[in-house]
Order: sequence, then C-alpha cells, then structure tokens
Amino acid sequence: MEEVASLIINGKTDDLDASISTMEHDVTKERLQELAALESSILDAIPQAIVGLHNRRIIFANNAIKGTFGWSREELIGKSVTIFYRNARESKEIARYFYSTLKRQRTFVNEFPCRRKDGKDILCRMRAARIGDELKERRIVITYEDITEKKRAQEELERSREQLRNLSTYLQSVREKESTRIAREIHDELGQSLTALQMDVAWLGDQLPPELTHLKEKTQRMVRLADATIESVHRIIAELRPILLDDLGLTAAIEWQAKEFQSRSGIECYVYIDCTDSSIDKDLATALFRIFQGVLTNVARHAAATAVWVRLVQKEDELRLEVIDNGKGITVKQAEDPRSFGIIGIRERANLWGGSVQIAGVQNRGTTINVTIPLRKGAS
Ligand SMILES: Nc1ncnc2c1ncn2[C@@H]1O[C@H](COP(=O)(O)OP(=O)(O)OP(=O)(O)O)[C@@H](O)[C@H]1O
Ligand SMILES: [Mg+2]
Repeated sequence: MEEVASLIINGKTDDLDASISTMEHDVTKERLQELAALESSILDAIPQAIVGLHNRRIIFANNAIKGTFGWSREELIGKSVTIFYRNARESKEIARYFYSTLKRQRTFVNEFPCRRKDGKDILCRMRAARIGDELKERRIVITYEDITEKKRAQEELERSREQLRNLSTYLQSVREKESTRIAREIHDELGQSLTALQMDVAWLGDQLPPELTHLKEKTQRMVRLADATIESVHRIIAELRPILLDDLGLTAAIEWQAKEFQSRSGIECYVYIDCTDSSIDKDLATALFRIFQGVLTNVARHAAATAVWVRLVQKEDELRLEVIDNGKGITVKQAEDPRSFGIIGIRERANLWGGSVQIAGVQNRGTTINVTIPLRKGAS
C-alpha cells in the first residue's frame, strides 16, 4: 500500500498500473486458493461419498469415499469409475444409463449395486448431476450412499409385517372355525335337549289333575324358564356364528345384529342397505359382519350415544359400510393408538380384503367409521 502511495505522489503512472495489476493478480490467486480450500472442506464435511468424473475418470473425491468404498482419494484420482462396480457389463450398463439420463435432465437419483475395495458387494443410492448446462466431456458429479443395511432392515420389516398379516389371517380363520364348531355343538347338544325338556315338562303339566294348582303353576314356570333358556342359547349361537350369515347372507345378518343391538343397548339403530348378497364372497361377508359387530360393541361401550346410523352400500366396484353414532366422539389419539386392538383388528380385517378404514370423531358430536372394500370382478 505504501509503495502504491509513493508512486501516486511521484506521478509514476506506468509503474503504478503494473503494480496494481500484480496486486490484483495476487489477491485473485489468494482468493482462488481460499475458495478451493473451502470447496474441499465442504466436500469433506458431507457424509456421502462424492466423486467428480471427466470422461469416466475420477478427477476429485471427498474423504467419505474411504468409508464407503475402502479406497483412499489418492488411490482413486485418475482411475476409471468402473473401480466402484461389480463387473464390466454392469459398469457399462450403469454408464449408459447415467449418460443418457443426464443428457435429458440435470440430475437424477437411483440405486445400483457396487463393490468395495475389499470385494464386499454393497447397494448404493446414487445421485448424479452434470457439471454445467450440458453434458460436456461427460463431466459429472456423483454421490454414493451405502444403503445396504437400510435396505436389508426395510426388507426384514416388510417380511415380518407380511408374517404378522399371515398370522392374523390364520388366527382369524381358526377363531371362525372354532366358533362354528362350538355353535354347532351347543345347537345340537344343548338346544335339542332343552327343547325336549321343555316339551316333557309341558306334557307333565298337562297330565297333572286340575286341583294340583301349585304343581301346575310350577310346571308352567319351568316351561317359561326353558323357553327363556332356549332363547338365550339361540342368541349365544347366533353371536358365535351368525347362522343368518350363512343362511340368509350379509344384509339379513346386519339387520338382525342391528335389531339385537338396539334391543339390548337401548340405542336407536337405523339401517339402510343397498346391496345384493349374491355378489359378496362368503369370507368377505364374515369379515364385514365381524367388523360391524366390533364397531357396534365400541359404540355401546364407549360412545355414550343415543342413536346409530348404519349404511351398507354396494357400488359397482366397492362395498362400503358406514356406521355413525351421535356419542362423545373418538379422538385421533384413541383411533391411532397402537394399543387399540379392537380398532387394529377392524383395520386388519379390512386390509386383508384390500380395503381401508377411516375413523373420524368430533367431540360431543359423534364418531364415523367408514369401511371400504374393493369388489373384485367375477367374485362370487
Ligand atoms: N364409537 C366410539 N366413540 C367414542 N370412543 C370410541 C368409539 N370407539 C372406540 N372408541 C375409543 O377408542 C378406544 C379403542 O377402541 P378399541 O376397540 O380398539 O379398544 P377397546 O374397545 O377399548 O377394547 P377391545 O380390545 O375390547 O375392543 C376405546 O377404548 C375408546 O376410548
Ligand atoms: Mg373395542
């Protein structure tokens, strides 16, 4: 600075120009060095491995490359990028994909198999970007993220979810079979004996001489008790395995269940049904009926409602069951709680048929549950 000042004072303008130009040059050089240092620090601060390519040769790499591939950056500079891939064929395919894609777009992300220096195969998520507006001299930057473990964990999770789904289907079918067996046994053993007992007591009463009034009354009470017991047995059978479902189909079973619910809970139940049983698969009918039972039980237990509206509607390609109550309203937390096993069961049953369940509650206004099941064409 002092030097420049003295040149100005002494009027030596040519020397002044030269001196300023040298200074500018120094400043620019210094600045460029600073930028280069900054650039390499940024590259090294990024956790993913990064390389820059020029005609498939590696022209720069960051520190993380060592962690991902086991190669140090010094070993890589000047080498072909094929060093990261498993064989020449795959390497060619990857290159073809890269360059053709980067001709069309500036960046892309995709997953490819890679190989480390120690020979271990890994799966990488690669992001590539061309350097500049066009793909000149195949100058590109690629980041590699080793997702082998992530992918494995994801697949493992998917597998165990699949197993859980299968287990849940299996358990449900076992439960249905068991219920059917118990229902049949109660019907055959208990139901028939009770009817016989009731008829015998009635006969006995008829045989008694009219003057034995108190004995006659006793037999009449026994007949009434037998009647009530037979009714209870029928109800228990119907709950275990709604025979109506087998005999008359889903719509009759839903209507029956709604009536039962109304008479037992005192909650008004309005039912609107618009569907034909013949197009509904038998197992699907069971699933939907069980869902309906679960939803009604929840209304009786939790909603403090005075009325329920039920709609079962069949569209061309889907079956929709809607149950609305006017109770206190389920909260999002309750509907999504992983410990809400009743609701989880409802969702699982619907999911098994490719369907979905929407649950919405409004505080002190009520809860709406919507179950939608797609109907496969040609299903009987
Ligand atoms: N119609 C409803 N109105 C208000 N709250 C509801 C309604 N249905 C469910 N809930 C709330 O959601 C929770 C979860 O229901 P879910 O059926 O999963 O479990 P549960 O009925 O408590 O037990 P279970 O496993 O015997 O069914 C209930 O405990 C209740 O708080
Ligand atoms: Mg429940």
